[in-house]
Amino acid sequence: LRHLLSLDGLPARILTQILDTAEGFLSVSEQEVKKVPLLRGKAIFNLFFEPSTRTRTTFEIAAKRLSADVVNLNISASSQSKGETLLDTVANLSAMHADMFVVRHSSAGAAHLIARNVAEHIRVINAGDGRHAHPTQGLLDMFTIRHYKGGFHNLRIAIVGDILHSRVARSQINALTTLGCPELRVVAPKTLLPHEVEGMGVHVYHRLEEGIEDVDVVMMLRLQNERMQGALLPSPQEYFKYWGLTPDKLKLAKPDAIVMHPGPMNRGVEIDSDVADGEQSVILPQVTYGIAVRMAVMSILAGN
Ligand code: CP
Repeated sequence: LRHLLSLDGLPARILTQILDTAEGFLSVSEQEVKKVPLLRGKAIFNLFFEPSTRTRTTFEIAAKRLSADVVNLNISASSQSKGETLLDTVANLSAMHADMFVVRHSSAGAAHLIARNVAEHIRVINAGDGRHAHPTQGLLDMFTIRHYKGGFHNLRIAIVGDILHSRVARSQINALTTLGCPELRVVAPKTLLPHEVEGMGVHVYHRLEEGIEDVDVVMMLRLQNERMQGALLPSPQEYFKYWGLTPDKLKLAKPDAIVMHPGPMNRGVEIDSDVADGEQSVILPQVTYGIAVRMAVMSILAGN
């Protein structure tokens, strides 16, 4: 594995290797020694052209725990605003002896473009590109499911909400399909499903109550308003009425079902606070596991 740009096409062996490696880092981080020297002397550049709280911060923490030097480029204060192209920015950072780029961009394919144009020794990780892919989010979601449910082979899983604009949903579907989830449901209004959903090997539901019945895992998604320019949006109240996960609706899932959300959450739109903060929620553990998973991805790409 040279770059991590998407989970599409990655074999189960590689996905499992990443999850197993993350398991090892999780036990390191739970002990007093929180740092390992695996990336000592490496320079990692975080290039976030779109806002982020969880991904950017956990990549930074993960890189520091691997003893790398981390640079967070402040895009709004960078020479991008003077017209410098993405590839010129990357070429200049490469001239500063970058070893790895972590890239978030609103354009699908931005990380691929960088990966095609960097020197052989440089690694690129896609931290979310448009509505295309968010592979490390998909991986930390797999880590969370495996942690709470022990595996994937007996699970019924529902992904609920704005599938159409969600790069997270695509990465989740890729990973769950590869890892052998026998019943993967996507639950969304028709207007928030991509045309290609029929070919994704998933079961499609258009009512929340039916889609989450007897599932082991409910993965909620927010409305990606920033990718819906010009679309006729439902009001938050209207969306919540039909698609908001409330304690009553959650009772339709299995009693031990876990509730996940990649964040940021819009409380009172796709999820009720009583569910988000409830006993079945594993939303904050997802964030914590993101550190170990990102440590695993960076150390594997660096050749460890
Ligand atoms: N899940 C996720 O990508 O969150 P951020 O946008 O805060 O990074």
